[in-house]
Amino acid sequence: MTEISGNGATQRPVDVVIMAAGKGTRMKSKLPKVLHRLAGRALLDHVIDTAAGLQVRHVVVVTGHGAIEVEAHCQGATRATATFDINFVRQEPQLGTGHAVQQALPVLPDDGVVVVLSGDVPLIRQETLRALIEAGGGEQLALLTVTLADPAGYGRIVRRGASVQAIVEHKDASEAQRAITEVYSGIMAVPARRLRAWLARLDNQNAQHEYYLTDIVKMAVADGVPVMAHRIVDALQVAGVNSPLQLAELERAYQLQQARALMEQGVRLADPARFDLRGTLACAQDVEIDVNCVFEGRVSLGEGVKIGANCVIANTQIAAGAVIHPFTHIQGGPQGAQDQVEIGAGALIGPFARLRPGAHLSAEVHIGNFVEVKNSTLARGAKANHLAYLGDTSVGERVNYGAGSITANYDGANKQRTVIEADVHIGSNCVLVAPVTIGAGGTVGGGSTITASTPPGVLTVARGRQVSLAGWQRPAKKE
Ligand code: UD1
Ligand code: CA
Repeated sequence: MTEISGNGATQRPVDVVIMAAGKGTRMKSKLPKVLHRLAGRALLDHVIDTAAGLQVRHVVVVTGHGAIEVEAHCQGATRATATFDINFVRQEPQLGTGHAVQQALPVLPDDGVVVVLSGDVPLIRQETLRALIEAGGGEQLALLTVTLADPAGYGRIVRRGASVQAIVEHKDASEAQRAITEVYSGIMAVPARRLRAWLARLDNQNAQHEYYLTDIVKMAVADGVPVMAHRIVDALQVAGVNSPLQLAELERAYQLQQARALMEQGVRLADPARFDLRGTLACAQDVEIDVNCVFEGRVSLGEGVKIGANCVIANTQIAAGAVIHPFTHIQGGPQGAQDQVEIGAGALIGPFARLRPGAHLSAEVHIGNFVEVKNSTLARGAKANHLAYLGDTSVGERVNYGAGSITANYDGANKQRTVIEADVHIGSNCVLVAPVTIGAGGTVGGGSTITASTPPGVLTVARGRQVSLAGWQRPAKKE
């Protein structure tokens, strides 16, 4: 709701300043606050990505505490959508939010509108920022405000009649002002030219001896510049993270939002309160997800896929009708198709299975309990049902891979490939020492250690021959 409507969309370029220099004392952590994670991504990444979606000109991140770590993180984070460069400015020491924005001024052209964001307020939405920019109309000061049942600690929006007169910080507020429940969110849109002039006039004559960005409101009023309050009702968008408890609360609230959005698309979550998505999840029709599952990176689930309780699934594509039984860990990597995990239509996985990067399973493959698969391709109908390891292996159609069998793919220095051709039967407790090829239709007897390739269609046994010794005496205890 915009209380006083702006005069139409601004034509000015938008530049963003993200304040991220504060210490985050209450996190009691060595990690800079803005690098703590919400839904698997750093708080600051959420804010930068929201800015990216606005198609802004410059993004300036003000760093201070943990500056080296924060800057390195941002430079490392890949952003497909980036249409801007991220500039960093250092604020040392940290003398308040007004002082923080002062550090960014050299990077901010005069013709723009500056949107000020906080690195620790991760859930602000693009639509809200667009509406805020519009409310300012490119010429005025627009403040994002919210009404809170408990406004303690926040800057209060002080009005005369309908018009905003000032923001008064909690520590500087009178009893009467503390009763005001409309608070400043920490987010504003302001023309750069005016911001520059106002910041030059800031002082620190207040309870905290800080240079308050919020003092520019009084200056705007004194200069006859209208101050717009764009008030929203969704407090989650402007909720800040100051403590581990607030971080966890925001995480749950965000996860519930994601769960609801999926359920609106028809996904059947056993319990929306026991669901975690740290990335993106695309679901076709009639997907069922039991409790306590965690999805990371990019995951897609085909029609009718069922995910049992307590599964962790990262960077994986699962085709229609596949069933993942409980306690399965599927850990595809983020680096493209070779790295991710693929599970074919109608495959049955788990319980207690482990699929690692590059596990590519075709339709109707069965992977049972305590089976680990890494960088291996299993063709249609192949089965490894119990206690086994397949690494760097190509497995043909309909192969049956026995309990307790492993591919010895690592000689201590190099990884080698194993090929198991179609219709092979590997008995229990076999070791296939790579590189080795098991010819199509062949059988490997249980307990064999295979060090050379085998011809197709034959039985190969490589183990000590069984002997039974008659007349052998068990040692007896000496008297
Ligand atoms: C600020 C606002 C307050 C508002 C609240 C909303 C001011 C003076 N007050 O208060 O009106 O209700 O946000 O959450 O602006 N930071 C720096 N450098 C500094 C100080 C802070 O970069 O010198 C950064 C912090 O890292 C943080 C953001 O600015 O990301 C806000 O600082 P914080 O100290 O949390 O402001 P509040 O006191 O909460
Ligand atoms: Ca403060």
